[in-house]
Amino acid sequence: MKGPLRVAVLGAGTVGREVVRAILERPESLRLADGPGVVLAGVAVRDLGRAIAGGIPESLLTDAPAHLVAAPETDVIVELMGGDEPARTLIAAALANGTSVVTANKHVMAHHGPALEAIARRTGAALRFEASVGGGIPVLGPIAHELAANRIDAVRGIVNGTTNFILSAMASDGRAYGDVLADAQRAGYAEADPRGDVEGDDAANKLVVLARQAFGRWLSVGSIGRAPSLASGELGLPGITGVTIEDIAAAAARGFAIKLVAQAVRAQNGVAAAVVPSAVTLASALGRTDGVLNRIEVDGVPVGRVAFAGPGAGGAATSSAVLGDIIAIARGAGSSWAGRSATTSLEDALDLAADETFDAPSGARYPVIR
Ligand SMILES: NC(=O)c1ccc[n+]([C@@H]2O[C@H](COP(=O)([O-])OP(=O)(O)OC[C@H]3O[C@@H](n4cnc5c(N)ncnc54)[C@H](OP(=O)(O)O)[C@@H]3O)[C@@H](O)[C@H]2O)c1
Repeated sequence: MKGPLRVAVLGAGTVGREVVRAILERPESLRLADGPGVVLAGVAVRDLGRAIAGGIPESLLTDAPAHLVAAPETDVIVELMGGDEPARTLIAAALANGTSVVTANKHVMAHHGPALEAIARRTGAALRFEASVGGGIPVLGPIAHELAANRIDAVRGIVNGTTNFILSAMASDGRAYGDVLADAQRAGYAEADPRGDVEGDDAANKLVVLARQAFGRWLSVGSIGRAPSLASGELGLPGITGVTIEDIAAAAARGFAIKLVAQAVRAQNGVAAAVVPSAVTLASALGRTDGVLNRIEVDGVPVGRVAFAGPGAGGAATSSAVLGDIIAIARGAGSSWAGRSATTSLEDALDLAADETFDAPSGARYPVIR
């Protein structure tokens, strides 16, 4: 049997510290019956003192992630730093060396997916990113594996816990967007700079990754519409920033919940996609997905509609997906796109037109999802 898989973790924050803890404290649970175990080769952070205080052995720590990437004995790089650079360069360098990569970084996958896929395919290194969509919810794997015999016609879902928490709290407490956002920031559900979440960028990044898996195409993030149309014919504010409590109350009176829905649909000459606040039937499973929960629905032929729901964020839940990807690499399972054909070019999403809209008091025309 081969020696243990040597794993280097870049970043030991909310997610990274849970992954490090699992590898250090319960390595047996990560060992395959007929395969190699997993050992920690190193952990890169910026603030060494904080990581040591958090219980990570000093001997494993470095503030130079590029050294871990360049080390010939590293088998897998687990990128959990987040953001664009240096994460993108480190992932690209690892893949170029033939070192497999696991990442939870939806920003990097959505903005640099085609280039990273090209490098991984050239060198044969595995690139896995299950945790980049839906946190702990397995969805990319099932689309590529158990649903592989289907033609996927649509994917849609609630994929951003922060905005769902805010909309749910506005609906249940009748409080204004700004008040609830401030509370969410105090409770740690929203970042100090919440724009990436509330303007729909994070959900759009996740939709790009979902669409790659479902349709075999990389969509350019910037081409995905993020603002509802207004009755005036203009575009409203991006993401949930224009949703008012009056809109939510009027929608509820008509049997709808307002949810930020990310949706991509197979079209004749491409993929139509949007991330916009939508009027979702209150009694539906999507309409009842509240708080920080996520739900992703996949329409396939012949399967029909299948759904994946659960904790879309949080260190422990997200570590489940990251650790699952590490085990998959130990098993020789390859990249998240599995046996699907190569996609290394970028294309624009087509506009996603709504068949039916709910005209809200603010002037927004929210697409109706039944
Ligand atoms: N949090 C979630 O629930 C969740 C869910 C799904 C996916 N994700 C994704 O998972 C990734 C990590 O998220 P997170 O919430 O764990 O982030 P986080 O708490 O901010 O942790 C980031 C970690 O990366 C380290 N780091 C950042 N830049 C670095 C650099 N240049 N060199 C060395 N270390 C660096 C930080 O070190 P210092 O602390 O020393 O600065 C910290 O340990 C992101 O891509 C995020 O989108 C997160």
